Amino acid sequence: MSDIDAMLKQLETIRQQAVEVFAAAQDADALQALKVQYLGKKGELTGVLKGVGGLAAEDRPRIGQAVNRIKAELEAAIEARAAVLGSVADAARIAAERIDVSLPGRRRPQGALHPVQKGLDELTDIFVRMGFTIAEGPEIETEFHNFDALNIPPEHPARAMHDTFFVEDGGKEPMLLRTHTSPVQIRAMQRFVEEGHEPPLAVVAPGRVYRCDSDVTHSPMFHQIEVFKVDRGVSMAQLKGVLQFFLSTYFEKDVPIRLRPHYFPFTEPSAEVDIGCVFCSGKGCRICKGSGWLEVLGSGMIHPNVLRAVDIDTTQYSGFAFGLGVERMVMLKHGIPDLRLFFENDVRFLRRMGG
Ligand code: DAH
Repeated sequence: MSDIDAMLKQLETIRQQAVEVFAAAQDADALQALKVQYLGKKGELTGVLKGVGGLAAEDRPRIGQAVNRIKAELEAAIEARAAVLGSVADAARIAAERIDVSLPGRRRPQGALHPVQKGLDELTDIFVRMGFTIAEGPEIETEFHNFDALNIPPEHPARAMHDTFFVEDGGKEPMLLRTHTSPVQIRAMQRFVEEGHEPPLAVVAPGRVYRCDSDVTHSPMFHQIEVFKVDRGVSMAQLKGVLQFFLSTYFEKDVPIRLRPHYFPFTEPSAEVDIGCVFCSGKGCRICKGSGWLEVLGSGMIHPNVLRAVDIDTTQYSGFAFGLGVERMVMLKHGIPDLRLFFENDVRFLRRMGG
């Protein structure tokens, strides 16, 4: 056998082998390795070409042509195999991510307002509908706004009853966490007068307050709403009318109310306000301790000293004011037995409250 025949035979053997192993390659990496092995610069086909130098000049083109033809055929074989492997891989991926349209959808958990915030909004809203303007004040308050201007002088026993958190900031004025929203009365009236307005002024002031106190019915942070109105001829009758409307609206029924004489430094006269027990309709139960009444807020006619502290002319104007605890109102409306439920953030409780 001549050299050329031997070389052509060798090429044919390589071709057959290559076609076989290409067709058996199991993945793209294996196929790539085989491509290098057979068609690469140092591959099998190139190896055969190295022997071309020993052939007669007229035989060389035949080997060149044969190598080119085999190369083209093998490249086509690689492409065909790659296509098959590609579609196998696609099919496997699709099978793995198959979407089961019969599965129920995944629900995104939805947030909701906290029951105290809802109560705060609901209560504030009733006053906004009656024409009161919303005002807010700082939670870190001066002793002046929280006490002095509200007719609670330094030695007054009411200061001790407020269990105040004091704040040390090294400033010249003593600061504290406000113990009630009543200081917003002072701030709102001060601003009103400074801006050169004359009453009427009707304000609702919702917000957080702080007292160093913690048990089943007390939390060191809770919420109050302060409501007041200053105008000519404001009377206790107006106060009672506003309270009646407000309480019946909030509790969604005609609740009876009664005003009991009481003492607050910033109002004179002062009254505590009771509603007929919403649990037993006034018959007497465990919650109202048999009395048929529930205390819900403190109220009164704004003390002339308070109006004077903000330069409102007490010969022309008078006002009523009241303040209430938001958590207590929400507890009474929804029959919640323990104040702490509001702050533990147990989702089972929050869900029941519509969260
Ligand atoms: N500030 C009082 C408190 O927190 C509540 C209060 C009572 C507010 C009588 C008033 C009022 O405006 O007239 O205990």
